[in-house]
Amino acid sequence: MELNYKIAIIGQGYVGLPLAISFSKFYHTIGYDKSLDRIDELNREHDSNLEVEVKANELLSFSSNKDDIKDCNIFIITVPTPVKENNLPDLSFVNSASLLVSKYLKKGDIVIYESTVYPGVTEDICVPLLEKESNLVFNKDFYCGYSPERINPGNNSKKVNNIIKVTSGSNDTIANVIDNLYQKIIDAGTFKAPSIKVAEASKVVENIQRDVNIALMNELAIIFDNINISTSEVLEAAKTKWNFLDFKPGLVGGHCIGVDPYYMIYKSKEFGYFPDLINKSRELNNSIPNFIIGKTIELLSIHKKNIEKSKVLILGYTFKENCNDIRNTQVEKILSGLNHLGCFVDIYDPLIKMEHNNLIENPFKASNKYDAIIAAVSHNEFLHYTINDFKQISNENLVLLDIKSMYSFSTWKF
Ligand SMILES: NC(=O)c1ccc[n+]([C@@H]2O[C@H](COP(=O)([O-])OP(=O)(O)OC[C@H]3O[C@@H](n4cnc5c(N)ncnc54)[C@H](O)[C@@H]3O)[C@@H](O)[C@H]2O)c1
Repeated sequence: MELNYKIAIIGQGYVGLPLAISFSKFYHTIGYDKSLDRIDELNREHDSNLEVEVKANELLSFSSNKDDIKDCNIFIITVPTPVKENNLPDLSFVNSASLLVSKYLKKGDIVIYESTVYPGVTEDICVPLLEKESNLVFNKDFYCGYSPERINPGNNSKKVNNIIKVTSGSNDTIANVIDNLYQKIIDAGTFKAPSIKVAEASKVVENIQRDVNIALMNELAIIFDNINISTSEVLEAAKTKWNFLDFKPGLVGGHCIGVDPYYMIYKSKEFGYFPDLINKSRELNNSIPNFIIGKTIELLSIHKKNIEKSKVLILGYTFKENCNDIRNTQVEKILSGLNHLGCFVDIYDPLIKMEHNNLIENPFKASNKYDAIIAAVSHNEFLHYTINDFKQISNENLVLLDIKSMYSFSTWKF
């Protein structure tokens, strides 16, 4: 079968595009996305996520025309899995991608899911959709697999090809086929999980582990703040122990760490078990924007600055450093909280180009002065600012809240 692989990657975002480019070095690959704008830019060899270089190649094409995937025999689904307003899993994208694929499914085809889900989504929710529309029988006529993605946008050393990839398949033979397929593009090698559910669970566990550990650091940071000692100094000392885990306090946004735990909470509640620790960690991490707002007010008062009508600058808007992804950014909560208190807030983020009332051009090249500055995201550009740069854009006493502990001269840091 191998020589005849024709691969369709459904969803050309942060996960799907690098995958399409990698597979197209070996196989005919179609990067399909329902967004015309996205396909247009890819056809112009531009990735607005600024993650990969898009280069035309005779085995690679991008399309938003559904029929273009009809001759494919491997379908890889890389669509979003967000949560709804009430933090329940929103499976509408994986469902509609499954329905799309089901229309073109043929005997012998393989459907691999990469979107992050709770254990059971592939076999219990997506497979019935694939069967219903295609009139084919799972594990007899067509097969499935699950292979979670671990890329880390904004970090050049963690790309799809150099991170070990977990693979799985709906039976032993297919698990091997899928594992061999990924081995072709993953230099770091693959890990074949014993089942699809194990592979699904392994991905959420990775992000839950981070969320819980960051929540612990955030809780300690609140305690240390009351004791009036610096959390970063405490952690610097503690991490000299060989088995201390190097987690830091901070804002947890984005579409992974701040979202995936809700998938497991949902699944667990189905069986009547309420996962207190996972849930509490989510609550704690979600409370950090309010903690930062409270800290800003406290410092403005200490420095005898009026809270109402004070001018605040926030450095960074994305959910993490050195990438332009703003999904679920916790900076928005800090902004709206401060606005609510009557502060005038400007935000500077050199990595994003979008319409937003509060976004400004480089404040260090302008004449505005601020009562408080919140350094929220550690983009590389921000690391070079000196105390004089900050003084130059500050009203009287510099009030610099340093969420990412970037500066030795900050007024307050975690
Ligand atoms: N971004 C990451 O760093 C990362 C890392 C690991 C895992 N993941 C997971 O991978 C999945 C995809 O994440 P992402 O960041 O690439 O999302 P994304 O929003 O960057 O890209 C998803 C793309 O899918 C397209 N899409 C949505 N529904 C579609 C449909 N029915 N048919 C065709 N295209 C459709 C969208 O237009 C979009 O371009 C999510 O489950 C996410 O949790 C993301």
